[in-house]
Amino acid sequence: MTTVARIRRILHGMALLVRLLWACSPALTVVGAVAAVARALAAAVLMLASGRLVGALADGRLDQRWLVLTLTALVLQTVLAAVVDVVGVVEQGRATPLLLERVSTLASRPHGIEHLEQSDVRQAIDGAVEEINQQYFLGVQSTWQVVGYRIWGIAALAVLASWSWWVAAVVLAATLAVNLTWSAYSQQIFEQIFRDRRRRRARWYRNLLVDQDSAKEVRLFGLTDFGLERFAQSWHVALADLWQGRRAEQRPIVIANVAVLAAYVVALAALAHDAWTGVIGTATLLAASQALMQMEGLGMLGDMQTMCIRQQALLLDLEDLDRRLPAASEVAAPTRPTGKPGAVSLRDVRFTYPGRTEPTFDRLTLEIEPGSSVAVVGENGAGKSTLVKLLTGLYRPSSGRLLVDDVDLADFDGDAWRARCAGAFQDHLHLELLARETITTGDLPALDSDDRALRALDDAAAGDVMVALPGGLATQLGTSWDDGTELSGGQWQRLAIARGMMRGDPLLLVLDEPTSALDAATEHALFEGYADAARRAGRHGAVTVLVTHRFSTVAAADLVVVLADGRVSEVGSHAELMAAGGGYAQLYALQARGYA
Ligand SMILES: Nc1ncnc2c1ncn2[C@@H]1O[C@H](COP(=O)(O)OP(=O)(O)O)[C@@H](O)[C@H]1O
Ligand SMILES: [Mg+2]
Repeated sequence: MTTVARIRRILHGMALLVRLLWACSPALTVVGAVAAVARALAAAVLMLASGRLVGALADGRLDQRWLVLTLTALVLQTVLAAVVDVVGVVEQGRATPLLLERVSTLASRPHGIEHLEQSDVRQAIDGAVEEINQQYFLGVQSTWQVVGYRIWGIAALAVLASWSWWVAAVVLAATLAVNLTWSAYSQQIFEQIFRDRRRRRARWYRNLLVDQDSAKEVRLFGLTDFGLERFAQSWHVALADLWQGRRAEQRPIVIANVAVLAAYVVALAALAHDAWTGVIGTATLLAASQALMQMEGLGMLGDMQTMCIRQQALLLDLEDLDRRLPAASEVAAPTRPTGKPGAVSLRDVRFTYPGRTEPTFDRLTLEIEPGSSVAVVGENGAGKSTLVKLLTGLYRPSSGRLLVDDVDLADFDGDAWRARCAGAFQDHLHLELLARETITTGDLPALDSDDRALRALDDAAAGDVMVALPGGLATQLGTSWDDGTELSGGQWQRLAIARGMMRGDPLLLVLDEPTSALDAATEHALFEGYADAARRAGRHGAVTVLVTHRFSTVAAADLVVVLADGRVSEVGSHAELMAAGGGYAQLYALQARGYA
């Protein structure tokens, strides 16, 4: 980055910072700004009045007016500085939730989840969240301190210029040089730290050691020391590189500091000369020498400026993220499938995961009639879950078209489409809420409805989970809480299925292997229930898509879709596929033998 570009970035960072202060509270920001300016004026008055006071004292007089003015300015300066500090503390408190909200809004803005699986985006989001949550990171509070000092410095500059404009100019130039070189340097360091993948790797190892989810295997395989070692290693390598880079970048700062030293020598010499030759009296000598010292307000301000720049780096990073993430599309709400054949169709869909070269799907074509139940089968990695993600709009095809009722899914409003989807996944959430809420979050407007929760439990053939709930639907779930009840994997799974049953009238219901903990008969009954409901809702064109390994369930579907080699290798009813005697028929025979 060229120096000009870097300075422009610093200035832009400052603008973002001002916008953040404003967003925290416009009223407080005005109060803070007015107080900072008034404090600077008081400081200027203090310098001039104390100069006059001492000047008069040197002549053997105690001038009451200058004494009163000096004391008043002193008190005002102190009080106003405290006002700026209070504004900083209050706005700091507001900034944290505001920034967290900004990050989560950004993260959830794209309709898909593709961006969350891109490592650079994940890094930016995780880094920002970690940064915002740092307790010692008081970016907004520090910003107000810096603002206070800067305006104070400007007042000092004015006082200094009233004695000698050229000395003021020389000291100003050198001071700003230190300020800018140092700002550029630390801003760059912070941006580098945010983006450093090794730091992220270190964080990953740290989480491995402390997360509940990983605890079982970490203990079983004795991975603690291994993890610690890897953590330390990635941390050291990252820091060593950073330090190496730092040294080379420090030269401009050293030069600027030498310039400041020289400027002060010149300024003091000029001041001494003017005083010695009688050009200025004691009053000006005192005022100017105070101003000279207070010019540091425009220079490098240590920790508080570091925090301020760190805050800027974070805001710049968020802005970059904002630019990189796709905007939410503004399309009219989806129409319901009308009941025509071909309600859901994939035409020549090609899909490649970000960061991968091999496509998962290559020219996938499939027609699903409204109201039908579809079983998707295929080996591990065949793309069954990927198909589900495409259908629910979590990912978009790289090319080709995915149409719902002849409307491209890409033209739908993503949220509106997903509001009409329902389902359950293999890697479902363990939502550690009240048992009722764990179910009813499947349809938020019914969050507090016991009736709806019970009905969904029933539909999910999960009524017996109630036995594990000491407080019934009001039981707090999860080990994160003192009074939380922990469930078995299968029980969690069945609550997830019940959650998927909450939406009364979905257009698309997906069940991506959520039934592994159920026995074959229960799974079969559950799917039949789904299929029946879908048929009943057939006039709306609701489609049920089930991913399972159990052929007894598959056989009951209207349409069986076999995925292999990035495309649909077989499609048809169970009877048709059996008659065709292809791979499906062979697999079915194998499993039927296994069950026999
Ligand atoms: N988030 C992802 N990023 C990159 N590749 C992925 C991702 N998820 C799945 N894949 C790859 O896509 C292929 C299909 O995966 P998936 O749809 O999960 O298979 P299935 O559900 O049939 O077992 C696999 O080769 C898998 O490695
Ligand atoms: Mg899968």
